[in-house]
Amino acid sequence: MSIETPGTDLALDDIRLGDIEQWMRPDREGIFAKLRAERPVSFHEEPAPPPEMGIPQGPGFWAVTRYADVMQVSRDSDTFHSAPTSTIGDMPAEIAQWLGSMINMDAPKHTKLRLIVNRGFTPRQVARIEESVRVQAKEIVDRVAPLGECDFVSEFAAALPLQIICDMMGIPRSDTKHIFELTNVILGVGDPEYVQTLEQLMEAGMGLFQYGLALAEDRLANPRDDITTALMQAEIEDENGLHRLTAGELGSFFLLLVVAGNETTRTAISHGMRCLTELPDQRKLWVDDFEAVSPTAVEEIVRWATPVINFRRTATRDTVVGDQDIKEGQKVVMFYNSANRDEEAFDDPFRFDVLRTPNEHFGFGAGGPHFCLGANLARREIRVMFEELLRRLPDIEVTGEPDMLQSNFIHGIKRMPCAWHTVND
Ligand code: HEM
Repeated sequence: MSIETPGTDLALDDIRLGDIEQWMRPDREGIFAKLRAERPVSFHEEPAPPPEMGIPQGPGFWAVTRYADVMQVSRDSDTFHSAPTSTIGDMPAEIAQWLGSMINMDAPKHTKLRLIVNRGFTPRQVARIEESVRVQAKEIVDRVAPLGECDFVSEFAAALPLQIICDMMGIPRSDTKHIFELTNVILGVGDPEYVQTLEQLMEAGMGLFQYGLALAEDRLANPRDDITTALMQAEIEDENGLHRLTAGELGSFFLLLVVAGNETTRTAISHGMRCLTELPDQRKLWVDDFEAVSPTAVEEIVRWATPVINFRRTATRDTVVGDQDIKEGQKVVMFYNSANRDEEAFDDPFRFDVLRTPNEHFGFGAGGPHFCLGANLARREIRVMFEELLRRLPDIEVTGEPDMLQSNFIHGIKRMPCAWHTVND
């Protein structure tokens, strides 16, 4: 039996995706289902930033909610630019590139940077990281297993991605906690627990940037066997000659990497654990044949969680999405969460199904030049974390309601209690 599409009692004209309070309503899925069915591309006012942020209110945005339309926007990078910034709120282009590196750039600058950065993700580098994913996941479970209960997010889900990125970049363990706190501030914008003012945001960004800058300068002087060194040594050639990353570009890329690779993977793992607790049949399917089921289970976790809810583009010319006219300069926001529940693209989209095939979800983006650089690494982390958890702590369960991040950008879980009785060797 298929699971019914959820509903909402909100009238179409009362839907305001820019309103953070509405965003936190329990019928969010119903709201998006209504938009997909009745107004697939709709205009929304932007929230007024709190006065202490000192930023003017933006001009509003088009929300694209259907799978096919999100794909069109994502893949037409001539018509839909990532600069000046790929988040809904505005900021000056220089700050956006400093804070977001390549994610806020377009060709040819983006292409150049991506070519260099790809050198950090060669098979050799990735093989090195894969080994470290296994070692770190084991260590995490060893450390937490004797407790019998804990906060799942901080102890299991958050610990792995952060350590992997730090390890990959060659950062010492003693610095990981500091980096963890700074990334929380950057992605927690909008949630009062993490950030209140623009200054706090800039301070956290500056802290990460400077850390990356110092790391780059150190590796230029003292090369090592890590990705930072590989990135600093990588050269690409175009009609203007040879290019290398500057220490400043590495600083910004580091900022993007720790932010992009951390909360996202943590969010996927947390939602995954929640699903496996709520759906013991799905858990059994996976546990009974871990190797064979892992590839589809991991994709389904990412579709289900959709850790990154949206990215924005800016129209470079007058165009049409769905049946909607869009004017040059307007903001166009791709709602991946909605595309990933689109009844036109997925059979029974509200069913969590570890065996789902096909599953061409948009959790890592909807195709095009910015497709997630860390997708394979994230897949590996999710798989290995669950392999360790389900084998070593076979009765681990979520034991209470998750505390959700107040954000329309990251589908984050801040805290979620879990417990177990059995510990296997
Ligand atoms: C489950 C985990 C993850 C999710 C859901 C996720 C999601 C995304 C999405 C939606 C995008 C934008 C794609 C687009 O605009 O087409 C993106 C870009 C990116 N991601 Fe991920 N990501 C994850 C993990 C990671 C990891 C582990 C890393 C690195 C270690 C990473 C690095 C990046 C980078 C560098 C970009 C920018 C690429 C560019 O602009 O060319 N991500 N990711």
